[in-house]
Amino acid sequence: MQPTQKGPDPQRGSNPKERPEPIIELRNVRKIYKMGSTEVRALDGVSVSVYPNEYVAIMGPSGSGKSTMMNIIGCLDVPTSGTYALNGLEASEMNDDELAAVRNQEIGFIFQTFNLLPRVNCIQNVELPLIYSGLARKKRRAIAEASLEKVGLSDRMDHKPNELSGGERQRVAIARALVNDPSILLADEPTGNLDTKTGEEILDLFEQLYARGNTLLVVTHEEYIARHARRIIRLRDGMIESDEMVDRPVLDAKIQDLRG
Ligand SMILES: Nc1ncnc2c1ncn2[C@@H]1O[C@H](COP(=O)(O)OP(=O)(O)OP(=O)(O)O)[C@@H](O)[C@H]1O
Ligand SMILES: [Mg+2]
Repeated sequence: MQPTQKGPDPQRGSNPKERPEPIIELRNVRKIYKMGSTEVRALDGVSVSVYPNEYVAIMGPSGSGKSTMMNIIGCLDVPTSGTYALNGLEASEMNDDELAAVRNQEIGFIFQTFNLLPRVNCIQNVELPLIYSGLARKKRRAIAEASLEKVGLSDRMDHKPNELSGGERQRVAIARALVNDPSILLADEPTGNLDTKTGEEILDLFEQLYARGNTLLVVTHEEYIARHARRIIRLRDGMIESDEMVDRPVLDAKIQDLRG
């Protein structure tokens, strides 16, 4: 298949003035790791624009660069070459404080490996991003509890990660990513270890976030999960292999109704 380097325009009115600016814009991004005499091209010239309130699935074989791309979008890693702009601001021009603020306030990140703190319980794990927000302790706790309730873990709040199943750990990671009410959610294999029912619950949660106007990027190996998104980007060997919109007219009509 011919790689399509330019994403399709989301249907947001043909008048260019009405079209919003991309919230995420990667331009010719390369990430190259030098390993002794060889080099690994984790990303090899990726250009992609994501617009506010898109729901995008990222697919591709193991090693195709999905996590690398998510880390760059989440400002956790920097490209070897090429540029990345978030909300129109060049990531390379942000200082450490600005990057920290973006990571903490704009972006919720669900990692492939969860990244939970092992020594503290669920509430404290979920509360963590709020510590920097200046909220009072009681308020923080209430928000963390509400976030855990949303993922169905009201009865596990005092458990530490090693006292939870894999799927429960994943849900704690999701509750933590959502606790700051970020406008962008980046999820790297969020349903990877979940049973079908819990997976469906997480997908419902994503649908609600999408309906509320958030922007979602979800890495998945599962075609049926990707079909929940409105756009599917496929990576191969660090390049975009395809980028297609998914029509979901019935659901989108419902969401329009909800929004009035
Ligand atoms: N720190 C690193 N040093 C060297 N090579 C790396 C590093 N991180 C990733 N890579 C390589 O870059 C390529 C892309 O890795 P990445 O983690 O983005 O893949 P992925 O698509 O997320 O795969 P998976 O589906 O298995 O999670 C892989 O070949 C990987 O081995
Ligand atoms: Mg990965």
